Amino acid sequence: MQLIKLDATASTNLYLKELLVNGFTADYTVVWAKNQTKGRGQMGNQWLVEPGKNLTFSVLRSGLALAPEDFFYLNAIVSLSIVDVLKSMTIVPVTVKWPNDIMAGNKKICGILTENQFKGPVIDKSIMGIGLNVNQTNFGEMSNVTSLKTLVGTDFNLEIILGELIKAVKRRFLEYPKENYLALLKVYEQQLFRINKVSAFEDGEGKISNAMILGVARSGKLKLLKEDESEIQIAFKELRLL
Ligand code: BTN
Repeated sequence: MQLIKLDATASTNLYLKELLVNGFTADYTVVWAKNQTKGRGQMGNQWLVEPGKNLTFSVLRSGLALAPEDFFYLNAIVSLSIVDVLKSMTIVPVTVKWPNDIMAGNKKICGILTENQFKGPVIDKSIMGIGLNVNQTNFGEMSNVTSLKTLVGTDFNLEIILGELIKAVKRRFLEYPKENYLALLKVYEQQLFRINKVSAFEDGEGKISNAMILGVARSGKLKLLKEDESEIQIAFKELRLL
C-alpha cells in the first residue's frame, strides 16, 4: 500500500484519476488530503467540510475484473468496512442508508463516492472516495449530519482512524471476494438503515409515498414493499429515502 498525503487538492478522487491517466495503477494506493477545494459528492453535489477537521481520502483498487452488473459489490464492501470501524468507536447505532451513506443514529456521518473504470467489458479499477466527519462540530444549517466528536465528545487523531479504515477495507475484500458477493449482500442488508420499517420516499417530482424496505437486489436496487402490498425495486435516482 502507498499512502500519498496532501495538504490540499481539488478532490482526492480526481487526484487518483490523474494518477491513472499517467499510468500509475498500484493496487491500494491511498490519497489523503487535509483539505479539498472541490470535494465531490454523489449526484454531482459538492462535498463541503471544514478544512483539516475531517477525513477525506480515496482508495484505488485495480485488477478487479468485476462484472458490471455486480458494481454494487464495491459499494457494499466500502460501506461495511466503515460500519465495522465506527461501531467500535461509538455506542450510537451505525447503519448504511442505501445505497452508501453511513448513518450514526438518524444523522449522516460519512459519504462514499465510488468511481469505476472499465477494461473491455469488465470493471477493472475503482476509486473509492470516503468523506468521514471526525472533529467538525459546527455544521451550520445542516441539522441532519454529525461527526465522531459530536457523538463521543473528544477529538480524534485522523491518521489513526485512516489506518483503521484502510485495514477494514482490506479485511472485507479478503473476507468477501467478488465470488461471494451474494453472501456479502446479506451482511450488508443486516446493517441497512430502516430495514423492515415503513419509510417515506420522494420521487423526482417531489411526490412522497410510503414503503417498507425489504433489502437490496444483486443489481444494487432497493427492494420495497408498497402500501398496496406489491414489491418493487428502485434505482438510486428513482426515489430518495427521506
Ligand atoms: C456523498 O455525497 O455522500 C459522497 C461524498 C464523498 C466525499 C469523498 S471525500 C474524498 C473523496 N473525494 C471527493 O471529492 N469525494 C470523495
